[in-house]
Amino acid sequence: MPLPYVLLSAAVSLDGFLDDTGPERLLLSGPADFDRVDAVRASVDAILIGAGTIRADNPRLLVNSAERRAARVAAGRPAYPLKVTVTASGDLDPGAHFWHTGGDKLVCTTDAGAARAARLLGGTADVVALGPALDWRVLLEHLHDVRGVGRLMVEGGGQVHTQLLQQDLADELQLVLAPLLVGDPAAPRLFGPGAYQGGRLRLTDTRRIEDVVLMRYEPTAPGTGPVATPADRHWLRTACELAALCPPSQTAFSVGAVLVAADGTELARGHSREGADPVVHAEEAALAKTDPADPRLPGATVYSSLEPCARRASRPAPCAELILRAGVRRVVTAWREPDTFVAAADGTGVLTGAGARVVVLPELESLAKAPNAHLLA
Ligand SMILES: NC(=O)c1ccc[n+]([C@@H]2O[C@H](COP(=O)([O-])OP(=O)(O)OC[C@H]3O[C@@H](n4cnc5c(N)ncnc54)[C@H](OP(=O)(O)O)[C@@H]3O)[C@@H](O)[C@H]2O)c1
Repeated sequence: MPLPYVLLSAAVSLDGFLDDTGPERLLLSGPADFDRVDAVRASVDAILIGAGTIRADNPRLLVNSAERRAARVAAGRPAYPLKVTVTASGDLDPGAHFWHTGGDKLVCTTDAGAARAARLLGGTADVVALGPALDWRVLLEHLHDVRGVGRLMVEGGGQVHTQLLQQDLADELQLVLAPLLVGDPAAPRLFGPGAYQGGRLRLTDTRRIEDVVLMRYEPTAPGTGPVATPADRHWLRTACELAALCPPSQTAFSVGAVLVAADGTELARGHSREGADPVVHAEEAALAKTDPADPRLPGATVYSSLEPCARRASRPAPCAELILRAGVRRVVTAWREPDTFVAAADGTGVLTGAGARVVVLPELESLAKAPNAHLLA
């Protein structure tokens, strides 16, 4: 099921706190960064915060710039993004600014919290019960399918950010580091304890804004199951882009592949016909660059723009077989192999028959096909 692009946005002190414990909200950023946040808000379909942030900060969450609101309206969008909050208790102050400013409001809650929230708010917001407990994936599917949300900005607080990152549901983190220290262990932290991806996130941008620094990160660790994560989509897109590097051919597909360890470390990449080998396949080229004894291979994922081949004339072993021999047990691909060169090729069947998992992301199929258009006409 497609989900919205989820952008986590936060500002923290040098010692990692979102706020102090005083009655007023701690201002971590300055005017230029607040204006940047305003631009990000103007770019999204919805903004989400936890009920704890409504209680602590009483925020309005507006697009403050009239020009940005006008541009949204000119583009056929509402002037303000949908405002969303999550609560289990349903304990929401009906007098909070959140309900009386901006555009549409939505409360996502549990079956038990819904009655209380609806009674307290009395029609100022839509209240939706998403089951006995709130499942973030169900919430995101609801926002995408029912509310038409393609891009979601999450503005805290720590409980919400922690869950979305730990559950592999965040596409991006926009983090501002402010030059002050809080030093109070009772203050809220951006990320709480728990299981996060093992390795390093990808730093995609840094920018000085007055005296704060904006850092943008993306998760890198592959998913572990049948459901694609944001990192899976990133790596598969990279594989599709590698396919564009292939020397053109009338007799073979252009394919790209990336091999990624469970902690998000890239182990190798390859593309069809790379180097001096006119028949090498992308997955084969990537695997050839790894040490077969590398203990990370059994936990790794192969990303291939085209399903790994099941049969081939040019070499004794097809790529599905090479992947299995390497011990890799998860493959993510964008495009099932058509009958163009091999009838009824079923690399997925070879892989799954041997116990590997294959995840197909049809949303990237057109990108995978692009360098092969001359073969598909
Ligand atoms: N510096 C920044 O960028 C920034 C941004 C935002 C917030 N903050 C700060 O962060 C602090 C608040 O953070 P916080 O971690 O305490 O609160 P929070 O994450 O904003 O909200 C937590 C609340 O959200 C609801 N919730 C969270 N997960 C849920 C789930 N899985 N199911 C159902 N409901 C769920 C619960 O509401 P109920 O209790 O109603 O059930 C929970 O108490 C404040 O001090 C605020 O100033 C800072």
